[in-house]
Amino acid sequence: MARILIVYSTTDGHTLRICDRLRELIEPLGHQVSLVPVAEALEAELRSFDKIVVGASIRYGRHSPALVDFIERNAAVLNQKPSAFFSVSVVARKSEKNQPSTNPYVRKLLRRIAWRPRAVGVFAGKIDYPRYGALDRLIIRFIMWLTGGPTDPEAVVEFTDWRQVEAFGELIARL
Ligand SMILES: Cc1cc2nc3c(=O)[nH]c(=O)nc-3n(C[C@H](O)[C@H](O)[C@H](O)COP(=O)(O)O)c2cc1C
Repeated sequence: MARILIVYSTTDGHTLRICDRLRELIEPLGHQVSLVPVAEALEAELRSFDKIVVGASIRYGRHSPALVDFIERNAAVLNQKPSAFFSVSVVARKSEKNQPSTNPYVRKLLRRIAWRPRAVGVFAGKIDYPRYGALDRLIIRFIMWLTGGPTDPEAVVEFTDWRQVEAFGELIARL
């Protein structure tokens, strides 16, 4: 049995839903999974886990600075263990941007950090216009209009391919 830590950063909860799905999938395979928001991930605790997974969403072109700080501070211990990273964005709904090598946010992050995760996942996220404030809704609708996505201000659209998330969970269990 492995003790697996998943550190996550989310704004609207979708990355946490992906983490929950990973846990549901991995625990029956005989492992113990702890989910911890990045703000509560204590460096000292990292060493007590066998594997570490980090997951984060994109907001206005970047992963949360707190998440990137966490990775940079802990790159050495992350590199010593089987580890995985996943990124959640709506640009990843596009087939030409849904791989670690083709997703611009993941490419940029991996260039910047010293951590080399063994597995990297790129998942399409969710649009939830009713949940957003007026300005965010307007800006995201404009970006969606530019990129051929949903623009109805009432739209709630989940682009996530859950089979892809499940396959990633199986990969984590095998790392
Ligand atoms: C204010 C805002 C800004 C966003 N900016 C981007 C972006 O720059 N690129 C992108 O691909 N997705 C962007 N998204 C989409 C989010 O990455 C997507 O909604 C994701 O599911 C959010 O996950 P979370 O709920 O875990 O934060 C944005 C969403 C919001 C609400």
